[in-house]
Amino acid sequence: MLLSRLSLTHFRNYHHLEMAFDSSLTLLQGQNAQGKTNLLEAIFLLATSKPIHAGQEREIVGWQAVDEPIPYCRVAGEVQVDGRTLDLEVILTPRGDGVNYTKQIKVNGAPKRSMDLIGLLRAVLFLPEDIKLVDGGPSERRRYLDVALCQIDREYCRALSSFQRVLLQRNSLLKSLREQDARPSAAGVDAQLAFWDEKLVQHGALVISRRNNFLVELQQSAAERHAELSGQREQLTLHYLPSFNPGPHSDQEFELLRDGLMTTPAAAKLDAGAVAGLYLRKLATRRAREIAAGTTLYGPHRDDLRFLANGRDLRTYGSRGQQRSAALSLKLAEVSAMTGATGSAPLLLLDDVMSELDAERRAMLLTVINDVPQAIVTTTDWEDFSPELRQRARRFRVYSGIVEAVD
Ligand SMILES: Nc1ncnc2c1ncn2[C@@H]1O[C@H](COP(=O)(O)OP(=O)(O)O)[C@@H](O)[C@H]1O
Ligand SMILES: [Mg+2]
Repeated sequence: MLLSRLSLTHFRNYHHLEMAFDSSLTLLQGQNAQGKTNLLEAIFLLATSKPIHAGQEREIVGWQAVDEPIPYCRVAGEVQVDGRTLDLEVILTPRGDGVNYTKQIKVNGAPKRSMDLIGLLRAVLFLPEDIKLVDGGPSERRRYLDVALCQIDREYCRALSSFQRVLLQRNSLLKSLREQDARPSAAGVDAQLAFWDEKLVQHGALVISRRNNFLVELQQSAAERHAELSGQREQLTLHYLPSFNPGPHSDQEFELLRDGLMTTPAAAKLDAGAVAGLYLRKLATRRAREIAAGTTLYGPHRDDLRFLANGRDLRTYGSRGQQRSAALSLKLAEVSAMTGATGSAPLLLLDDVMSELDAERRAMLLTVINDVPQAIVTTTDWEDFSPELRQRARRFRVYSGIVEAVD
């Protein structure tokens, strides 16, 4: 799988860009605020249908587009998969309200849903702020899991989207029940909740089991990377922390896990059917509490994950260096897991990460660049790369939304 062309119109600070990628390694150099991250974001958008950071999609529309009769934004890419060429397109056009935009997706010219786009071009993006995966809030970690899993697991993506839809509806029911001061045992209330519980659990249990199983899969290779980076001094453990016990731990063990008192890596995979039973029971016994809160308290929207090094929580006790190593190890493990799951390596996108890293972490990233068929790497300073690497790469300079080849 290779990205062969990229075409941008009114995407952030790019008015128009046409770019061909014809070699395994592309290096982009530019000063700050010239458009390096924006370029990688455009590729990331084709892979995941989302901007890099959570937020308003309309932020990616170029400010200059506002002067156009129809202020649209378009990102298109050509991808080579198994000898076929796929044309991927994401277009934002303004809605009547003058504020919001509608997102249209096309594959080979035919309109598609986001879900059908995701997974055609698979990419893993490394950013200097990846450290937030370890020291930031839980929503960053959930977003990370979703972006990674959706690219390799269509069923997950479908379940996640259904779950989110059902969650909104169930939350609005709970809110209105709270306003009515409803008793959970009242016949109508009981039936309404039972209806939504079932739908929530059907999709939520799949999301939970797949997140758990993905982390179990990442555990070993992430730990190996982290051990290498720490000179074999640190054992990295990933813990999945759902909002209720989905098995296979006993409730007592689950309490220890939640409180950070368990230090062994999770090794057991979960079956969605078994999770569904436990999830449904949890909801059934917590109705009064959920009505009082006026919102859904249990489910994958409340998940978190924890990184431990030698048994200690890195979010609380880790140094910046340890946190950075853990985040990097997780991402590198993701590259291996994606390759394993799909049979081909993802496109690597490295945004200005070299300068942040010390020699060992840099060396590890460079070996991965050599392992994958295609990598696109940005930097402010050519000196971040050895002469050999620069020699074999296609090089470009990014200046104020314009990309020029360097020869
Ligand atoms: N929607 C937008 N329209 C036009 N310019 C934008 C938009 N969003 C961000 N920018 C501009 O893009 C530039 C940042 O580009 P970025 O890719 O982050 O730079 P860097 O080369 O440092 O990675 C800034 O100058 C910012 O003002
Ligand atoms: Mg940048």
